[in-house]
Amino acid sequence: MSDRVIVALDFPSAEPALVLADRLGPACTFYKVGLELYTAEGAAVVRALRRRGKHVFLDLKLHDIPNTVARATARAGELGVRFLTVHAAGGAAMLEAAAAASPGGLRLLAVTVLTSLDAPGLGAVFGRRVEDAGLEAERLARLVRGAGLGGVVCAAGEAGRIRAVMGPGAAIVTPGIRAPGEPRHDQRRVRTPAEAFRAGATHIVVGRPVTFAPDPAEAFARIAAGAPGAS
Ligand code: C5P
Repeated sequence: MSDRVIVALDFPSAEPALVLADRLGPACTFYKVGLELYTAEGAAVVRALRRRGKHVFLDLKLHDIPNTVARATARAGELGVRFLTVHAAGGAAMLEAAAAASPGGLRLLAVTVLTSLDAPGLGAVFGRRVEDAGLEAERLARLVRGAGLGGVVCAAGEAGRIRAVMGPGAAIVTPGIRAPGEPRHDQRRVRTPAEAFRAGATHIVVGRPVTFAPDPAEAFARIAAGAPGAS
């Protein structure tokens, strides 16, 4: 059993999400609740997962004024969430306020640059020429580290660079994971679980390879077999 593989519950309602969690049973201990499921079901679905003894990664990518993000972070802490995402672009004051409001068991993960943004797209956001989106991600990771946050979500291909900035204790969580030969869906650059862990990821996020699988438990077991700490 490994808590390094997080299954993304990208569903429109709680029912299929909890049916999947129950099908995976004790083998899977960590689930990501993102904007779709949280918008549909709110905190109730987080509580339902916590009642089943699961860890929850609440992927809300918070980006607002420091007071608002700090208060939302505190509420996530009360729900017993283990990972919560915030946007590094919210700035140092927002990141520091979130860190100060975060209880011991909750680790804040920063999103540096959305992987959907390329250099020209990022340049249009910043109003200046951007040569390399990866360098901007590193710059933002330094801001994140300086604000006292202990983790980043990034593509597996960036994990090595981000690890170098964040240091050995940071959580590095990488989506875009596919086993060799698996359909990529809308992901452009994918890595296998083994590649992601070798590159420095501490956790991987896997959605459709498990949720769309004819046998989700078998698909999960295959992916988790390659994770550190697997038994
Ligand atoms: O189904 P799939 O494995 O592609 O799902 C990956 C999960 O990770 C989804 O919940 C997706 O929103 C999330 N994600 C991602 N790429 C990012 C950030 C988050 O795929 N850069």
